[in-house]
Amino acid sequence: MKRAAQPNFDAVAFRRALGEFATGVTVVTTCAPSGRLIGITASSFNSVSLSPPLVLWSLSSRSASMPVFRTNSHYVVNVLAASQLDLCKRFATLKGDRFEGVAHAAGDSGMPVLDGALAWFECHNRSRYEEGDHVIFVGEVERCGVRDDARQVGPLVFQSGEFHTVKPL
Ligand SMILES: Cc1cc2nc3c(=O)[nH]c(=O)nc-3n(C[C@H](O)[C@H](O)[C@H](O)COP(=O)(O)O)c2cc1C
Repeated sequence: MKRAAQPNFDAVAFRRALGEFATGVTVVTTCAPSGRLIGITASSFNSVSLSPPLVLWSLSSRSASMPVFRTNSHYVVNVLAASQLDLCKRFATLKGDRFEGVAHAAGDSGMPVLDGALAWFECHNRSRYEEGDHVIFVGEVERCGVRDDARQVGPLVFQSGEFHTVKPL
């Protein structure tokens, strides 16, 4: 079998091209064995399978949260609403307790579900794949929900390094 050709682009060009793929924004949350709540902003979320219900997301190997996500059985993928840009930034940058002052409730698995999330997926982690500088997590969805006014509020969208809301064509 032929091997992959050497890339003819650098990391900046790769990031720029990837950035043209518009995504929603999620905060993936879990609870460490110590009881400490952990959350990180992730746009790498996607659907995998309807039956069984599977989703995926990926986390940088350099993430400070990796030791907890690598060993925990459960997490919640919280899909952010357009009105939750502050949470997106908080869970991407804040050092210290990212949950301080952030309204949330424990889901059935005990993991935190963020108030106001557009949709949420409570997952049992099914598999992890180390690929390059990230780890891909595949989660089996045990519970999911959608905010009642999801259509009016709309999602937070990330594209080309900027945040957007959507408007129908
Ligand atoms: C819009 C957006 C999307 C992001 N998506 C991801 C992602 O999918 N995977 C990832 O590892 N980091 C992603 N990040 C970066 C992490 O949120 C950030 O590195 C975070 O601080 C990691 O926290 P930790 O090092 O405390 O675990 C994203 C950041 C932003 C602003």
